[in-house]
Amino acid sequence: MIVPYQNLKLLHKPLMNKFLYSFTRNLNNSSFILGGDLSKFEKEFANYCGSKFAIGVSNGSDALFLALKVLNIKKGSEIILPAMTYISAAYSILHNNYKVVLCDIDYQTGLIDLNLLKKLINKKTKCIISTDLNGNVVSLKHIKKLIKNKKIFIINDSSHSHGSLDGNGKKSGYGADLACFSLYPGKNLGALGDAGIITTNNSNFRTNLLKLRNFGSKKKFYHDIQGYNFKLDNIQASFLSLKLKHLDKWNKKKSLIAKIYNNKIKNNRISLIKNTQGSSYYAFVILSNSRSKLAKYLNNLNIQTNIYYPFSINQHRSLEKFFLKQNFPRAEKYAKTSLAIPICPSLTNKQINYIVRSLNAFK
Ligand SMILES: Cc1ncc(COP(=O)(O)O)c(C=O)c1O
Repeated sequence: MIVPYQNLKLLHKPLMNKFLYSFTRNLNNSSFILGGDLSKFEKEFANYCGSKFAIGVSNGSDALFLALKVLNIKKGSEIILPAMTYISAAYSILHNNYKVVLCDIDYQTGLIDLNLLKKLINKKTKCIISTDLNGNVVSLKHIKKLIKNKKIFIINDSSHSHGSLDGNGKKSGYGADLACFSLYPGKNLGALGDAGIITTNNSNFRTNLLKLRNFGSKKKFYHDIQGYNFKLDNIQASFLSLKLKHLDKWNKKKSLIAKIYNNKIKNNRISLIKNTQGSSYYAFVILSNSRSKLAKYLNNLNIQTNIYYPFSINQHRSLEKFFLKQNFPRAEKYAKTSLAIPICPSLTNKQINYIVRSLNAFK
């Protein structure tokens, strides 16, 4: 039996005709840039997230870059970021000329350690990027308590948590000043190419983000501010609208698979990460001190795996110079020991049982 890490072909199969219809409709209308499907998807996504506004952008990395840009904070300000996340979050800070301050994580959930975060907040801190990891959601309520009355913004990186719920039953990103979502094909909600989106309740942020993504212009050839070409394609937005209708169903299927894994995986050499209540299980992560042996073993059994992420932010060659003599032991351990096993909604019961049996037989 072959178990691919993710089977997008199978997931997309029931939607194929609808994708083709949307594509043809836009082709016939020559509606490619800033069209009706984009504004429709933005409204639908904002509504889904319980947010006032959503602004479609080119990808999740540009979403983070623009979210920081629109805050308009002082050059050199400190931005706190968990040490275990995707590299582009760190780049978004550096490309905006801010200082990256890394915070170690809780090894069990993979999320920013809130006790350590408290110690890192100082006068120079102007923003915290709270990153949801593998479907697990950071408690923004808790972060807000730490911030108290200080003027510190929160940007939630929700790229792993489309549809995850927080402890109060609100969607990922709710309560942040801005939430950024990658809509990369393999995400819970993914386009058929690169895409991203930012949600916010702040109308000034929305107005400026609409300009920033389009060369600083709201009206053609009137450029009020210095901007970028970071727009979300209309055709991609039409595909995303179609997929959004299925997101909750797909997430539910993932949570059922996770339940089986949580109940049935039993092996002393493997532990499971702790999932936050309401997780959308973007990835199902297991932890093992014999990670490379385990990955090879599963690969030999035709079970594909993935690693999110094999390096903590301070360990990347392009970034290590910023963190000399700093250690983030839990993020580094997580990078060394974590392994994501298949949890795609298209998995069959046979495949799920095969994965469980194989993991339980690992020696
Ligand atoms: C947590 C996180 N942040 C940001 C990004 C960047 O998104 P994109 O690849 O759409 O630029 C990703 C994508 O993998 C991600 O997983």
